Amino acid sequence: MTSSTHSSVNNLQTSETSQPILDIQSLVVEYPTKEGNIRAVDNVSLQIYPGEVLGLVGESGCGKSTLGFAILRLLKGGFIKQGAIQFNDKDLATISEEEMKSIRGSEISMIFQASQNALNPLQRVRGHFIDTLKYNDLDPEKDFYRVEETLERLDIPLHRIQDYPFQFSGGMQQRIVIALALLLRPKVIIADEPTTALDVLVQARILQLLRELKEEFDLTMILISHDLGVVAETANRIAIMYAGQIVEIGDAKTVFENAAHPYTQGLLKAIPNIKEKEKKKMEAIPGTPPDLRNPPSGCRFASRCPIAIKECKIAAPMLLKIGTHHGQDHFVRCLQYEDEYKTKF
Ligand SMILES: Nc1ncnc2c1ncn2[C@@H]1O[C@H](COP(=O)(O)OP(=O)(O)OP(=O)(O)O)[C@@H](O)[C@H]1O
Ligand SMILES: [Mg+2]
Repeated sequence: MTSSTHSSVNNLQTSETSQPILDIQSLVVEYPTKEGNIRAVDNVSLQIYPGEVLGLVGESGCGKSTLGFAILRLLKGGFIKQGAIQFNDKDLATISEEEMKSIRGSEISMIFQASQNALNPLQRVRGHFIDTLKYNDLDPEKDFYRVEETLERLDIPLHRIQDYPFQFSGGMQQRIVIALALLLRPKVIIADEPTTALDVLVQARILQLLRELKEEFDLTMILISHDLGVVAETANRIAIMYAGQIVEIGDAKTVFENAAHPYTQGLLKAIPNIKEKEKKKMEAIPGTPPDLRNPPSGCRFASRCPIAIKECKIAAPMLLKIGTHHGQDHFVRCLQYEDEYKTKF
C-alpha cells in the first residue's frame, strides 16, 4: 500500500465512530426477462461512511454496476424490488423522480463504466458540460465558471472543449468524464470501473488523480472494479460481491492480507504478480457463477469452491462477523465460520 493510502486511512472515521452517509438496507434489484427475473442484487445491506473509499469487487455479472445504478435510480430495464437506500434523511429507493433529480449529480454522481462510450461522439466536449449544467438547473453562461474551475483542476485546457471526444486520448477522455461527474461538487462519487479500458500507466495516473480529488473535495467514494489489485491501494474498505450478494467485507488491508472467503482467496490468486509476471501464470477461478434467475439454495460459490463440503450445497451461509480490524468490522459469508459447521472443515 502507498503512504497516501495510510494517511487517508488515518484521517478516516471508522464504522465505530460515525453515521453512514449512505445506508443500503436489504436491497433487492431485478431485471425481468422472458425466462424469469434476474435478481442482480440480492438482499444487499451496505453502509458507506463519510470520507471513505469503499471498493466493490467481483467478477463480471455479479451486480456491481446494478448496485451503483440503483443508488442513483438509473436502472435500465430493472427495478428496485425491495429495500431502502438511506441518504441523509431520504430513502433514495422511494423518493419522487423530481427529488432524485436534485440529488443526481449535485449530491451523488457516477463515473460510468466504459465512459469513453458515455461521451456522445457527435457532440463537442463543451456541449457535454453545458448539458450537465442545464440538467442541474444552472445557467450555462452565469455558471460557466464552474466548468472553467473544474477543467483547470483536471489539467484540461479550456480551449480544447471545442473538440470532439475522439480528438482526445483515452486518459484525457477519462479526465473529461471525471470532470463532468465533479462539476457540481457532489459529496459521493460512484466510480464504476474508472480505469478498466486504459493501459497500465494511464490507469495508475487516473487512480492517483481520484485519490487526490477525494482528499481535495472531501469526497466519499464507491470504487467499483473486477480487479482486486486496482482497489487495493485506493480503498480503505473492500466489499466482495458474488452472484448478487456480499460475501466478504472488511478493512482493505485485512481483506487483502487475510482474506477469509474462499472466493476472495481465489480472486487474490488471480492478480498478476508484476515482479514474477514471466514466471507465474495467473490462476483464474475455474467454473462460472450461477444463473441469477434461479440461484442454488445453498452457498452460491459451492460448485467452484476448493474446500466445499456437502453441507455447502444445502445450507445458505449467513454474513457473519468474524472480527474487527483497524476499527472496521470483518464479515464473511461461509459455513466454515459458522459454529454449527466449523468442525466439519
Ligand atoms: N438491462 C438488463 N437486462 C437484463 N439483465 C441485465 C441487465 N443489466 C444487467 N443484467 C444482468 O444483471 C446481472 C448483473 O449485471 P451488472 O452489469 O450489474 O454486473 P457487473 O458486476 O457490473 O458486471 P461487469 O463487471 O461486467 O460490469 C448480470 O447477470 C447481467 O446479465
Ligand atoms: Mg459493471
